[in-house]
Amino acid sequence: MLYQGDCLEVMDRLIEDGVKADFMFTSPPYNRKRNDKYDNFEDVNSNYYELLENVIEKGFLICDYVFLNIQKNYYNKQDVFKLIGNYYDKIIDIIVWTKSNPMPASGFNITNSYEFIIVLSDKLKSFKANKTYTKNHLHTSVNSNNPYKKIHRAMMKPEVAEWFLNNFTKENDTILDPFMGLNTTGVACVNTNRKFIGIELNEGYFNIAKKRMGWSNDRTSSHHKTITAKTRTPTKYNALNIWRT
Ligand SMILES: C[S@@+](CC[C@H](N)C(=O)[O-])C[C@H]1O[C@@H](n2cnc3c(N)ncnc32)[C@H](O)[C@@H]1O
Repeated sequence: MLYQGDCLEVMDRLIEDGVKADFMFTSPPYNRKRNDKYDNFEDVNSNYYELLENVIEKGFLICDYVFLNIQKNYYNKQDVFKLIGNYYDKIIDIIVWTKSNPMPASGFNITNSYEFIIVLSDKLKSFKANKTYTKNHLHTSVNSNNPYKKIHRAMMKPEVAEWFLNNFTKENDTILDPFMGLNTTGVACVNTNRKFIGIELNEGYFNIAKKRMGWSNDRTSSHHKTITAKTRTPTKYNALNIWRT
């Protein structure tokens, strides 16, 4: 099921409807305070910590486990480390994704060559992988031949989503990605027989995400439905695009 809208509003709606998923697996915006990451979408959040906290707390009401992929950078590091400190008792582990060919830093600055995947739960204190000796790090190259890289510059490497699905989830599990982007997680779910709930704010990205599920833009299609969802201020309502299998 794919939703176009603000993930905090859509997650409220999922909670109200009693929707459950097994895992949340997501890459929030990086908060780079620049407008070069996404198409017509500024990666700037003055209340970035609040966004992360809200999405985690709502995620806890929908899923048992929350996997948050985040790259610390100059602008967001205070919020990322605050999050790690504040959630120390809900963090089960931090997986480190290292990159063999990261974008070099200018001058002699240290090259940013890893990202965190923070694994959290508010109910369960431990977590078993599908196999013994699953390590808490993975190593890949970064996207080089990704056909979408000019459209969305912060897409996840598909191998990372597949590594997560293969190591921690089972067939028919439901995975929620509230910052779906172009749907890397959803496509990996389809390829590995997992169910998927994706949310994306940007209409252009959302349309590509749909196409990658094999759905057209035809809003009269049997996959499509529009409902109204409460916005963050309770008196206003937004039309919500929902696409379902
Ligand atoms: C780091 S990207 C995720 C990329 C995705 N994993 C992929 O592989 O395409 C973050 C995405 O979150 C979206 N986004 C930002 N704020 C949002 C919000 N409040 N609700 C839903 N999506 C949002 C952005 O448009 C962007 O596509």
